[in-house]
Amino acid sequence: MTVRHFLQFKDFSRAEFEYLFARARVIKDKFKAYETHQSLFDRTLVMIFEKASTRTRLSFEAGMQQLGGSAIYLNTRDSQLGRGEPVEDSAEVISRMSDLVMIRTFEQSIIERFAAHSRVPVINGLTNEYHPCQILADIFTFIERRGAIEGKTVAWVGDANNMCNTWLQAAETLDFMVHVSSPPGYGPNPELNKITDNPHVRLFADPMEACRGAHLVSTDVWTSMGYEAENEARMKAFADWRVDGEMMKIAAADAVFMHCLPAHRGEEVTPEVIDGPQSVVWDEAENRMHAQKALMEYLLLGRV
Ligand code: CP
Ligand code: NVA
Repeated sequence: MTVRHFLQFKDFSRAEFEYLFARARVIKDKFKAYETHQSLFDRTLVMIFEKASTRTRLSFEAGMQQLGGSAIYLNTRDSQLGRGEPVEDSAEVISRMSDLVMIRTFEQSIIERFAAHSRVPVINGLTNEYHPCQILADIFTFIERRGAIEGKTVAWVGDANNMCNTWLQAAETLDFMVHVSSPPGYGPNPELNKITDNPHVRLFADPMEACRGAHLVSTDVWTSMGYEAENEARMKAFADWRVDGEMMKIAAADAVFMHCLPAHRGEEVTPEVIDGPQSVVWDEAENRMHAQKALMEYLLLGRV
C-alpha cells in the first residue's frame, strides 16, 4: 500500500479537504464539550524541528495527546540530524519506531527525500516553500466565521513566502481568488506557482488595490526564518506593505484579517488591525490543533 503524505497543499483533493474541514468541526466540538476522543490511542508522532516554533509544536503535541497517542520532539541541535546523518537514513530509522512524522525544515526537497524513505505518513510543518497545515487551519477558520471559501477573494500583502505559495495552491484546489501585492523582487516565484495563465491569482503593484473588495486580508513577517541575513534590505523594501486600517476599509465590509503569527506589530501590520475587531488571529492559532487532529486521524485511519 502506498503511504499518503501531506507535503504540499495540492497533495490532497478538494473532496478530501471537505472531509477534513467537517471532521475538524466534529473534533473541535468534542474538545469544547470536554468529550474524550482517542482515535489514535497508542500511536506515536515524531516531530522534527530544524527551525523554531511555538504553535506548530504545541498544536501537534497537545493534539496527539488528546487523540490518545504520544508525541516525541527531536531537533537538529541535540540529535544526529544536526551532525550530518543522511536524511534518507534518518527517515528509515525514525519511521520504524513511529506511526507518523511531522517535519519543520528548510528546503522542500529535504522533506520530499525524507518522505521517499519513510514507512509512515509525513506532514509538512513548514518549509521555505510551503506551510500547508497553517492554510488548512486558516481555511477552516474562514469557513467557521464566514462559510464556504469557494468564489471568495483572499488578499495577500507582503512577502510571497511559504504562506503565500500555499494560499496559491489552495486557491486552485478549492476554487477561490488570491490577490497578491509584494514589493518588487519579492513577488511569487512564477515557476513554483505557475503564475501565467493561472485564473486563481492576480498580481497588484499597489497593496491597497489588492485589498479592494477582498473577503480575507492576510500578511506575514517581512523576514521569514532562514532569511535573516536579508533583514536590513527587507525592512526598507517592505515599508509600504503594511496592512493598516485603510486597507481593511477598502476590503469587503465583513472581511477578516489573518496572520499565521508570530507578528511584528508596526511592521507588516498595525496594532489597530491585528488587535481590532476584524482580526481572527487567535482562532487561527487555536484551529491549528483541531485541523491537525483531523489531518493526523485521516492519514492514519482514513475516513472514519
Ligand atoms: N504559525 C506558526 O507556524 O507558528 P510557529 O512558528 O510558532 O509554529
Ligand atoms: N513565513 C514565516 C512563517 C512562520 C510561522 C516563516 O517561515 O518564518
